[in-house]
Amino acid sequence: MKKLLAILATSIVALTACGPRDAKTSSDGKTITVAFNQSKSHPQHLALREFGDELERQTKGRYKLNIQPNAILGSQTETLEMVQGGTLEMTLVSSSLLENYNSNYTAISLPYVYDSLKHQKAVFESDVFDELLASTTGKGFQAVAAYTAGARSVYTKTPINTKADLAGKKIRVMESESKVAMMNAMGGVGTPMSQGEVYTAIQQGIIDGGENNEVTYTDLKHYEVAPYFSYTEHLMVPDLVVVNNSFYNSMSAEDKTVFDALIQKSVEREFALWNESVETAKQTAINKGAKFIEPDKAEFKNASLALNEKTLASDSAMKATYDKIRALAD
Ligand code: GCU
Repeated sequence: MKKLLAILATSIVALTACGPRDAKTSSDGKTITVAFNQSKSHPQHLALREFGDELERQTKGRYKLNIQPNAILGSQTETLEMVQGGTLEMTLVSSSLLENYNSNYTAISLPYVYDSLKHQKAVFESDVFDELLASTTGKGFQAVAAYTAGARSVYTKTPINTKADLAGKKIRVMESESKVAMMNAMGGVGTPMSQGEVYTAIQQGIIDGGENNEVTYTDLKHYEVAPYFSYTEHLMVPDLVVVNNSFYNSMSAEDKTVFDALIQKSVEREFALWNESVETAKQTAINKGAKFIEPDKAEFKNASLALNEKTLASDSAMKATYDKIRALAD
């Protein structure tokens, strides 16, 4: 019996010590584990890897990045909670999820708020987001940079050319109230769920489609279950690099300066990598049978802008952020 208890105790210790983070974190605590919900070939993964290599070089090995791709550490909602709780140093999540912590985040991903990637890049490189990114500090985490995730469009099993074509169609949206409202305004039925569930949900007929950029559409092979990709380009939702505060503040002033400069530098690099990836992703999907359609975008845009007006009318802080973004449009 004693022996059995000893074996059990050892197994429990071993199990507890093998959490997702501990399994990968070096004992000196200088390995920064980053959760990422897409593949290793995704432009954001490449940008993060380059950031990591440079961080390691410039801090002379005091910090190393350990990126865990393909959502192995969990969905974005889950990894954000891990970063908040301090069991993970870093994650990359859609800014839509931050709306659940500070509603002002809604302003930076409202439909049609950015005119182009160029406009979005100008905003990311300005100081418009500074206050917002630091606003969750009291909650245990903060965003340190925004990456582009291109423009999102609707994809389904049948062609969507007009708002009427979307009527009654259940379209997966990210887990945010504003995105549900947006899809409903566009004519569909907004259905929130995490990205990892989308393929099977479409396959099983639980939803009729999703909405995303070309890169993720192809990366996750969603064209296999929803081959009609309709260029509504209704959203450009920033992705955010989020860090745990205790980890961030544990860096020396010198290392923090290096970290901050390099993560900012990686924003520009990520935009470049993004631009290189979109056409390739689209071509891959076409080769696999996907059809890319140009719908009547004005219909979707008008419905979304009317909703934006209502959302902004009731929130002056959100309106101020929205106006600053619009002021940087060409
Ligand atoms: C994009 C975005 C991800 C997000 C995903 C989603 O791919 O880059 O951060 O998780 O959309 O729809 O959930």
